[in-house]
Amino acid sequence: MSDEVVTVNKFTSALCALGLGIALAGSVNAATGSNAIAERIKPLGSVCLEGDDSCGGAAAAAAGGGARSGAEIYTASCAACHAIGVAGAPKFGSAADWGPRAANGMDSLLANAINGINAMPPRGTCATCSDDDIQSAIQHMLDNSQ
Ligand code: HEC
Repeated sequence: MSDEVVTVNKFTSALCALGLGIALAGSVNAATGSNAIAERIKPLGSVCLEGDDSCGGAAAAAAGGGARSGAEIYTASCAACHAIGVAGAPKFGSAADWGPRAANGMDSLLANAINGINAMPPRGTCATCSDDDIQSAIQHMLDNSQ
């Protein structure tokens, strides 16, 4: 009788250990999975064009003071949409996208960028961008989209 109880206990603890092992393996898998998902859904804002050395730290540091270059402002505030044409945004580097718009002149482009137009948010959501900042970012896109 008591032998039987011992056997049952051993069996139960073996089951417990097995269960724990599965639970641990399961949570490790889940963690790996969510990292992979985070990597896949990371913001488009981290797009950094080849040959542009103003990405990351440099652009952020420059935001503190002094004039920022059009490239820096573009990378920090506009590339998220304009690099790949999100929601119909004219694509960086595309003469076909920018040509007809450029024909309206800088004043018109600037006014639309400042006020927003359709899916283009006012100032591209850059609250700290001055009108001059917006203009130099537009000029940077135009210069590189001919
Ligand atoms: C959230 C996405 C998004 C961001 C960020 C964004 N844009 Fe745009 N932009 C658009 C879209 C979409 C359009 C096309 C709007 C339309 O004409 O329907 C557009 C159009 C434009 C145009 C053309 C306007 C015209 O008159 O034809 C300019 C200029 C422009 N954006 C400048 C900028 C600048 C400068 C920045 C950064 C400071 C910026 N955008 C950031 C989405 C964005």
